[in-house]
Amino acid sequence: MSIPWIVKYRPKRVEEVVGNDDSKKKFIEWIESWVKGEPIRKAALLYGPAGVGKTSLVEAVAKTYGYDLVELNASDQRSETIIKRIVGIAASQGTLTGSATRRIILLDEVDGMSEEDRGGLKAIVEVLERTRQPIVLTANDAWDPKLTPLRSVCLMIEFKRLKQWEVVKKLRDICLKEGIEADREALEFIAKRSEGDLRSAINDLQIVAQGRMKITIEDVGWLPYRNRIEPIFDVLSIIFNAKTISTARRALSLIDIDPDMMFEWIYENLPSQLTDPKDLAVAMENLAKADLIRSRVKLFQRWDLLAFATEIMSGGVAVAREATKPRWTPFHFPERIKFLSSIKEERGVMDSIASKIASRCLTSKRTVISDVIPYILFMLMNNPDYGVKLLRNYDLTSSEIEFLKGKVGVGVVEAPRKRGRSAGG
Ligand SMILES: Nc1ncnc2c1ncn2[C@@H]1O[C@H](COP(=O)(O)OP(=O)(O)O)[C@@H](O)[C@H]1O
Ligand SMILES: [Mg+2]
Repeated sequence: MSIPWIVKYRPKRVEEVVGNDDSKKKFIEWIESWVKGEPIRKAALLYGPAGVGKTSLVEAVAKTYGYDLVELNASDQRSETIIKRIVGIAASQGTLTGSATRRIILLDEVDGMSEEDRGGLKAIVEVLERTRQPIVLTANDAWDPKLTPLRSVCLMIEFKRLKQWEVVKKLRDICLKEGIEADREALEFIAKRSEGDLRSAINDLQIVAQGRMKITIEDVGWLPYRNRIEPIFDVLSIIFNAKTISTARRALSLIDIDPDMMFEWIYENLPSQLTDPKDLAVAMENLAKADLIRSRVKLFQRWDLLAFATEIMSGGVAVAREATKPRWTPFHFPERIKFLSSIKEERGVMDSIASKIASRCLTSKRTVISDVIPYILFMLMNNPDYGVKLLRNYDLTSSEIEFLKGKVGVGVVEAPRKRGRSAGG
């Protein structure tokens, strides 16, 4: 796996851009009016949430209709002079009909222009009035006050979040092409979480699919933690690519993370990052040393030694890299922590269920778990409707009821135990 899937599966043709059919149609009509030499409007402003295919559509349309794309995106400098120069030249060359090169000028994410770019916005409006080439602007928030002067001169085309099934369908296509078998629930989970942002859904899918040919609902459960772990990815990428020990060590100070946790992250990702066997062996050796120091720190409460452990687990890994070629490989969540957190979460849910039932039955949570839950599961298995009704009476939430129903499905249900096996109960 070497390139990000959002790049690999970037739509090349208009038909590959999913969803927002009316907006796509409106945009195509607009560009066709340019092709005919009778433009409806000089510029179009495509607006809406991120990751729904605005930029991709412009690129695909340019290709389909034989336009070169001159693109200025948010990361470029867009001061007044630059805009006037680049856009001005591009927009004035050629005639409306039969010019040598046809260009679409794309000013991506104009709402991202800063206050200092004010002059840039003014320049855009001027260019829009004179342009002889189609100009496309995109924005997340078209109602941003600073875009007011643009709104009246542009054809406004709104893009909405993609529907869950549209995202699922695209994810399924990708899985098919990658030879990955994915459960429907797993893809639905990713799609729902993405809130109609296909870019983030595809990124999630790629991270989850790392090293797997099959994806189940269990594999995606940790994704909600991802926002918290994005900074960890940055740190890992510095550590695995650092040329010096001090760079690697400094990376650790960028985030506030427990060294044990960081250790797990490095350990988990090391084999996929340092693919050369010798590099890997050296790095593992160093990691083992760090681990040894870590355990001494805890055993003898020698916190003064901790710095050595962190130095070796970061710098020791960085310097091990000699023969491994640089290439992009996604990081993945430490399996050991995933396992522990799923157990912890499960305990939490069970605890909440038990305490609700315990307060109604005037007994302890322990008794509920050992003696009442088995009956409930038995009931859920044999008469689910009645079981659910009963649980509602105990004020269980739907997700807690789902949790118990899940236990029925996996054969955890045993016949209820007979009481009186111990006096304590
Ligand atoms: N409607 C879509 N159809 C197909 N792919 C999409 C769509 N929306 C987003 N993507 C995927 O997400 C990536 C980013 O989309 P992009 O066009 O940059 O979104 P936007 O400009 O709306 O933020 C694309 O490269 C593509 O892989
Ligand atoms: Mg975009």
